Amino acid sequence: MNSVLDAQVRAWRERMRALKNLPPVLVLLWNSGRLLVTAAVSLRIVSALIPVSMLWVSRFIIDDAVSAVRHPGYIPDDIWWLVAAEFLLGAAGSVLGRTIDYCDARLADEFSRSVSLRIMEHAATLDLASFEDPSFYDVLERARVQATDRIAMLHALGTLVEQGITLVSLSAAVILFSPLLFALLVFCVAPAFLGESHLAFLGYSLAHSLTPVRRELDYLRVLATGKESAKEVKVFGLAGYLRDQFASITGGVIRRNRSLARKRLWVGSLLAILGSLGYYGGYTFLVVRTLQGRLSVGELTFLAGALAGSNRQLQLLFSTFASIADQALFLTDLMQFFAVRPRIRCVPRALPAPRPIRDGFEFRQVSFWYPQTERLVLSDLDFRIAPGERVALVGENGQGKTTFVKLLARLYDPTSGQILLDGVDLREYHLEDLHRQIGVIFQDFMRYDLPARENIGVGQIEQLHDPRALLRAASKSRALEIVHRFPDGLHQMLGRRFEGGVDLSGGEWQKFALARAYLRDAQVLILDEPTASLDALAEYEVFRRFTELTEGRMAILISHRFSTVRMCDRIVVLEAGRIREEGTHRQLVARGGRYAAMFELQASNYR
Ligand SMILES: Nc1ncnc2c1ncn2[C@@H]1O[C@H](COP(=O)(O)OP(=O)(O)O)[C@@H](O)[C@H]1O
Ligand SMILES: [Mg+2]
Repeated sequence: MNSVLDAQVRAWRERMRALKNLPPVLVLLWNSGRLLVTAAVSLRIVSALIPVSMLWVSRFIIDDAVSAVRHPGYIPDDIWWLVAAEFLLGAAGSVLGRTIDYCDARLADEFSRSVSLRIMEHAATLDLASFEDPSFYDVLERARVQATDRIAMLHALGTLVEQGITLVSLSAAVILFSPLLFALLVFCVAPAFLGESHLAFLGYSLAHSLTPVRRELDYLRVLATGKESAKEVKVFGLAGYLRDQFASITGGVIRRNRSLARKRLWVGSLLAILGSLGYYGGYTFLVVRTLQGRLSVGELTFLAGALAGSNRQLQLLFSTFASIADQALFLTDLMQFFAVRPRIRCVPRALPAPRPIRDGFEFRQVSFWYPQTERLVLSDLDFRIAPGERVALVGENGQGKTTFVKLLARLYDPTSGQILLDGVDLREYHLEDLHRQIGVIFQDFMRYDLPARENIGVGQIEQLHDPRALLRAASKSRALEIVHRFPDGLHQMLGRRFEGGVDLSGGEWQKFALARAYLRDAQVLILDEPTASLDALAEYEVFRRFTELTEGRMAILISHRFSTVRMCDRIVVLEAGRIREEGTHRQLVARGGRYAAMFELQASNYR
């Protein structure tokens, strides 16, 4: 029993803490539409006072009617005015309600837009490390999905204001008549509130714990129905397996949801009965007073109405409040996401990146491991590359080639050691300016489901509207032949996501990615296995002019093809995070070391 109580207390604490998230969200709301917020709040205040006014008017109508019944022939002269007033109040209430809905709907649009924009803006500032961390990814996912769902909560906040004012106005009447009556109400409604809100909290905990499960389910669904996986799913006959996995996981989810829903049904019903007891107890008291002649019929109606209203408002207020507190828990994810700060950022008074680069890059005793891992990926690495130099990086999979590139592009900072550009630590340079100097196509480059034009243009977004520059870059990477094949030329939609899109082969996508690199007006060009999907002949075609195309720039080329690698001025063999050997193709072959062995192995395949 004690542990249940403890859990309750903890749940409540967590919930109250979550309410701290409200002010920043309210600021977001206010900034997304000040006029609308002002209108929605003021209209609610007016609307909140209508119920008590209507009760008050009907009290006089009823007393007038009762006295007319007692004195046949007598018609009170104000009764029609009162009826008219009642009508006007009712009509005003309806119109106000609709106007409030209108404001809320408009606000919801504005709010979800501004939150989505904030999320995109914030995501853009975060480190690559954050995106490569699965637990952060959960937070991002929840923030993204739920941000727009929180509109219901803002609506609830407005309702809370309205219900609060209505409650105060109605209960004022009850309290003035008898404070005990009101105490009775609170006493009966409070348990319902506590119970309901605790169950709602359990609902949140359940939803929260299901996030990873949801991700798994989504993935299974993608695997079972996606284009990427269709070939393997068919050939390996995986459909049944995937279906069963999905069925068994969803079975568990449904069981947990069901047990919670059942609890809600039982506990909720019992507590609601308690709430009704409070009201009918008070009502009986009022009826007794009227029978004793101590209340007029009008007063009875007014007080009974106020009592019923207070009872209802109190319940509504409690449940609205609880739902806000629960929703606020979801905001924790959003705020947690906004609270993630990038570690890789500009120092104050950062230097502009040198243009032109004079001395080049230097890795000085650079060691690196990925956050949350133990294994050293680069260890005490020393490396230099001078302007105009073309260096090939070779090595087996997992030796740290891509990681090396991530460090050079300052997507990560070294764990120890330094990377210098023209003798100055990379961290001293303005980050965006540094990125502007670097054109890199990663191994897992993007295939944008966008028109061909944008697939190239994103390499240097300022040139998106310069078709000549785009075509020139396409010609360098040999993507031009593909563009010529399209009836819409550069406007051809690529990928299968959107209507009219054409899918490309791996090698063709790669040529578009290369075009991005060539479009970029960068001093350093890095190609990480850019030709893995090209056959030997296509690769030869693509790189025939490599020397000419990289004239005057630094280039780092990662490849497993020695025909390409030997075009570089220098070859660096990376092994277990260190440089094992370096030199020209001829020197390395002559040395008869690691490189020579790899080269011999590949060459023998062609003999
Ligand atoms: N984001 C990451 N988090 C943790 N470990 C990683 C991450 N990326 C790569 N690794 C690990 O770092 C090592 C080097 O990877 P990588 O630089 O991609 O090698 P290469 O490009 O030479 O094949 C590998 O063991 C890989 O598993
Ligand atoms: Mg790699």
